[in-house]
Amino acid sequence: MPSIMSDLNLQEIHDFLIAVAKKAGEMITTARPTTVAAGEKKNSADLVTETDQAVEKMVSTTLKEKYPDFAFMGEETYKPGDRLTAAPTFIVDPIDGTTNFVHGYPYVSISLGLAVEHKPTVGVVFNPFTQTLYSAIKGRGAFLNHTTPLPLRDPEPLRQLDSAVVCVEWGSERTGNDYKVKSETFRKLCASKEDGGAMVHGLRSFGSAALNLCGVASGALDLYWEGGCWAWDVCAGWVILTEAGGLIVDGNPGNWEQSVDGRRYLAVRKGEGQKAMVEEFWGWIQGKMEVGI
Ligand code: IPD
Ligand code: CA
Repeated sequence: MPSIMSDLNLQEIHDFLIAVAKKAGEMITTARPTTVAAGEKKNSADLVTETDQAVEKMVSTTLKEKYPDFAFMGEETYKPGDRLTAAPTFIVDPIDGTTNFVHGYPYVSISLGLAVEHKPTVGVVFNPFTQTLYSAIKGRGAFLNHTTPLPLRDPEPLRQLDSAVVCVEWGSERTGNDYKVKSETFRKLCASKEDGGAMVHGLRSFGSAALNLCGVASGALDLYWEGGCWAWDVCAGWVILTEAGGLIVDGNPGNWEQSVDGRRYLAVRKGEGQKAMVEEFWGWIQGKMEVGI
């Protein structure tokens, strides 16, 4: 019996997702961000705008028309308890980087992924402010603006964290166990060796998980670590990263096989020494994140 995968025209899906991302991009760049009532959101730092909702509506309607049999999971229509199934599923974040969008900082993307049998299979991440497009199909490589292969430069071997630039995110959760694990880990990563730290070259926090994964895929960032984001933040970037030779594992120590909806992630760029880098990073984590367990 043929697998679901062999029945799908992944190139056509990829091209269609790019067209949808461009259309969404016009909506995003011409919009005036208006935040909406907190609703299901957890606190005053968990922002959502009318544009997030309007873009998701356009994307879901357009995808449903073209692919009526596919499932859909989107940030703005997700309900607690919704589960990713083995069916081909579009996993969509209409705006990744909503805080940046509201504040006019142009590190914002639309993230359109397709998962098949739970596996990220097609990914399109588009920053409409800089007109930067990252895309990939499983098994066929990852590209910047259609034609430039990722990573963008020959990868140096990954040495140790003391020569790495690490991307992390604070997220909107500002209390509890995971906030403590993250902030204490950040402090350790930056601290000097005399003070018992890893002395990384730099710690970055840009505000879009999808673009962070593309930064690791490009080779500009060595690692990206986060707990708390969702499948729609990472599905598309996952394909781009892994097709660019990157590795993505659990953000808690010990699990090399994280699922797309596992909510804790550690991504490492292409380069010799990838696994040793994962192990070194895991060794610096101060405790265990509870999200996703
Ligand atoms: C957020 C961004 C941010 C990450 C959060 C996400 P949103 O997505 O990706 O970088 O730290 O966990 O929720 O809310 O802008 O779509
Ligand atoms: Ca979002």
